[in-house]
Amino acid sequence: METKVIKIDRKNIEQKDFEEAARILRSGGLVAFPTETVYGLGGNALDPSASQKIYAAKGRPSDNPLIVHIAEVSDMEKLGTDIPKEAYALAGRFWPGPMTMILKKKDIVPKETTGGLDTVAVRLPSDMIARTLIKVSGVFIAAPSANSSGRPSPTTAEHVIEDLSGKIDMIIDGGHCDIGLESSIIDLSGDKPLILRPGFITAEDFKNVVGDAEYDKAVIAKKADKNIVAKAPGMKYKHYAPKGQITIVEGTREHVAEKIAALYEEGIRSGKKCAVMISEENSGLYGDIKKYLIGKRSDPITIASHLFDTLRLLDEDGAELIFSESFDGLNLSEAIMNRLRKAAGYSIINTEE
Ligand code: TXA
Ligand code: MG
Repeated sequence: METKVIKIDRKNIEQKDFEEAARILRSGGLVAFPTETVYGLGGNALDPSASQKIYAAKGRPSDNPLIVHIAEVSDMEKLGTDIPKEAYALAGRFWPGPMTMILKKKDIVPKETTGGLDTVAVRLPSDMIARTLIKVSGVFIAAPSANSSGRPSPTTAEHVIEDLSGKIDMIIDGGHCDIGLESSIIDLSGDKPLILRPGFITAEDFKNVVGDAEYDKAVIAKKADKNIVAKAPGMKYKHYAPKGQITIVEGTREHVAEKIAALYEEGIRSGKKCAVMISEENSGLYGDIKKYLIGKRSDPITIASHLFDTLRLLDEDGAELIFSESFDGLNLSEAIMNRLRKAAGYSIINTEE
């Protein structure tokens, strides 16, 4: 299949530019599009065969449910049932935006979209390209991240082209995503709110609205533990993995730099292609070695938005051993470190122990 790529100018969003994409979605085809978090691979959420096509294009296990993107807060009532008052409070505070809520589903949502579950994930994105696409197409759009399963999530249209060109009908290029990490997921289908995936909206933010919200233990774990199974099916897979092996080094700034430099030397001596992933502030501590500057600690969104780009770049450059600073203690640390720990397969060295 030939994949058409169209570019949309964010300064001048016109409905007519979305008509072809809307036709594709209405007739059961697939369109990748930008959101404020990452690019999504969209299909009609109420059409089981469109959902099956999404799984096939990504090479994703079909027990891993999709997020349904909506255009109005009231749309959640068309998809969900027994909606608790917390859902309305959270929607009022964080939608449109990078939050996904899990609700009990209505019968119109096919099991193909929810990976066989009785619940549905809904999200009202703030990105104007995403919102215009949902509105013009008139369908609810099921959209996982638009990467091949197991690769870092895409934050540019080029990443989507790399992974999915030839497998889907269209890609809408809207430039680099602002946040660069997937939405925060909160499950409201149980007795109390449970955060299934950390994101730009933090546990603190959630608690400020609903009082009591806890993390699913698996998502803040520092080690892989067979006895703790993530509640969001997708969180249990080894995700976001680059081809090289990442080791995260924790500790004081100076100790981390010393340890990383030593590991780098050792890796080079054993004939491996090595790289270090660090913050801009610490660049001066590492001397003359191959550095990937991910962003600024003083502005953590720069680290969040470049994490996946940097992982892809490390692959392109053929890095075999990657030594990364830890990005703990920042306001987006939970979201950033959840992805980085998984990408590292939980290989973490603490210099202070
Ligand atoms: O930011 C985002 O959420 C992006 C953009 C495109 O909106 N989408 C995204 O989708 O990250 P995906 O499919 O890559 O991740 C969805 C996550 C998976 O971990 C999945 O298991 C979980 O949401 N999920 C979806 N429906 C669920 C449900 N009913 N119960 C529990 N977890 C669910
Ligand atoms: Mg994903």
